Amino acid sequence: MKKINDWQWYDYPEVGSTNDEIRGFLTVPQQKIIVSARRQTAGRGRRGRSWIADEGNLLVSLALECGLDKLGEMIFIVSLSLLETVKSFDKSAPVKLKWPNDVLLNGGKLCGILLEKGEGDYLIIGIGVNIVSAPPASGMLYPLSALAAAGINVTREEFLNRFVAQFDIVLSLWKENGFTPIRQRWLQNVKGLGEEIVVNMENGSKKGLFAGIDENGALLLDSERGIEKIYAGDIFYLAGK
Ligand code: BTN
Repeated sequence: MKKINDWQWYDYPEVGSTNDEIRGFLTVPQQKIIVSARRQTAGRGRRGRSWIADEGNLLVSLALECGLDKLGEMIFIVSLSLLETVKSFDKSAPVKLKWPNDVLLNGGKLCGILLEKGEGDYLIIGIGVNIVSAPPASGMLYPLSALAAAGINVTREEFLNRFVAQFDIVLSLWKENGFTPIRQRWLQNVKGLGEEIVVNMENGSKKGLFAGIDENGALLLDSERGIEKIYAGDIFYLAGK
C-alpha cells in the first residue's frame, strides 16, 4: 500500500474490474481508498458497455464516504478534476467537458467515469483515462483520444498523483461552497454551449440547443417545447468537432 495525500493506494497487475476490487476495502468507515490496475479482464462502462484499455492507460477506482444523494454532483466534481489535471500538464490542451461525465481531448473521448454505490455511504468512482493509447473505436459511440497522441507524455502514476491532488482541491471547494462554483467552472469548460445537439435516451431521442445544466446537474435542452430537463442520456453534437 502507498499513500497519495490521505488516500490509501493499492495497485495491482491485473483485476476483473477495479470498481469490484475496491469493494473488499470498504469494511472500515471513514477511509479514502484508491485501487488501480495495469489490466482489467472485465472493465465496464456506463449502460452495460465494456471498457477496453491498453497497458499504460489509467484504470482506477476511488472510494469515499459521501452519501448517495451526492452522486449526481460527484460526476461533475470528478470530470472537472480530470479536466484540470490534463490542463496542469499542458495548459493549452484542447480539453473540454461533455454532459454528463465525459472529458474530451481534441473532440475525442479521453476519460470515462463510472459511479457506483458501495457499502454504506461509500461511493465508488471508477475512472479510465487513455494515457498511452485510445482503444480501437469500432463499436464505440464516439471518437476516442489519448494523451500521448496529443503530445502529452505522462505515466499513469504521474497522472493519478496529479489527479488526486486536483480532486482534493475541487472536493474542498464543494464542501465549503456547495455545487454552485463547481457548476460554474464546469459550464466554463463544457463543449458546445448554445449549439444544436441530439440526446439519445432509453425511450427515444430529442433534438434542441444545449442550454447548460440546472442547479442539480440535469441537462437543459432548449427545444420547440421550451426548456426541457433531461436526467440521463448520451448527447451528440450536430456541428461535429
Ligand atoms: C464510461 O462508460 O464512459 C465509463 C468507463 C469507466 C471505466 C473505468 S476503468 C476503471 C473502472 N473499472 C471499471 O470496470 N470501469 C471503470
